[in-house]
Amino acid sequence: MFRWFWVGLLGLGLAMAGRYNLGTPITPEQVDPYDVRPAVLPDGRGLPPGQGTVEEGGRVYAERCASCHGANGEGYPFNRLVAEPFPITPETESTQFAIGNYWQYPTTLFDYIRRAMPYGNAGSLSADEVYAVVAWLLYQNGVVDGAQPMNAQTLPKVEMPARALLQLDPETHKRFPWLKLP
Ligand code: HEC
Repeated sequence: MFRWFWVGLLGLGLAMAGRYNLGTPITPEQVDPYDVRPAVLPDGRGLPPGQGTVEEGGRVYAERCASCHGANGEGYPFNRLVAEPFPITPETESTQFAIGNYWQYPTTLFDYIRRAMPYGNAGSLSADEVYAVVAWLLYQNGVVDGAQPMNAQTLPKVEMPARALLQLDPETHKRFPWLKLP
């Protein structure tokens, strides 16, 4: 009985939406910045050509990221990106999670930043700029020494300290048995 009521209401809603011209068809230009393919996989597949150094990344970061993530990635007003304490422990507050102590794959960093940052203006960085800012962030987190530029060959080889988080807990056979997620 009630089901027919809801079906009827939905039908009425759809009819009205058509009648009042609600909604606007989305254009290919509007979709483009969000349609970033292929996604970058942990083994590096999908990384585009290009490269960037720590030094260049420092400039990109200062101009495009520091206002939200702090001058050195310490995280104010938004997420902390540079990690300390190292490594993460059961006592680490979730606000302290950052790249060095929490991100398990370097390639995810590339994909995420290219897809989502700078917040509100995603898609505005070139591939070289994304590689550079990733290089700077890895350097700031003490993950790389900065001697090599980051590109499709070097980035997937970077070993993230937080890879250990993917190991199963020997007792519970679960991941992150102690982690308090935000
Ligand atoms: C206008 C503010 C703003 C700017 C500018 C900005 N970000 Fe962000 N960033 C955010 C917010 C807000 C989040 C959290 C988004 C969420 O959780 O959905 C975030 C999240 C992130 C994260 C994920 C953090 C984590 O561990 O969860 C990374 C990495 C990041 N930003 C990198 C960058 C880089 C690199 C730049 C510069 C190219 C940048 N951001 C510029 C606001 C900003």
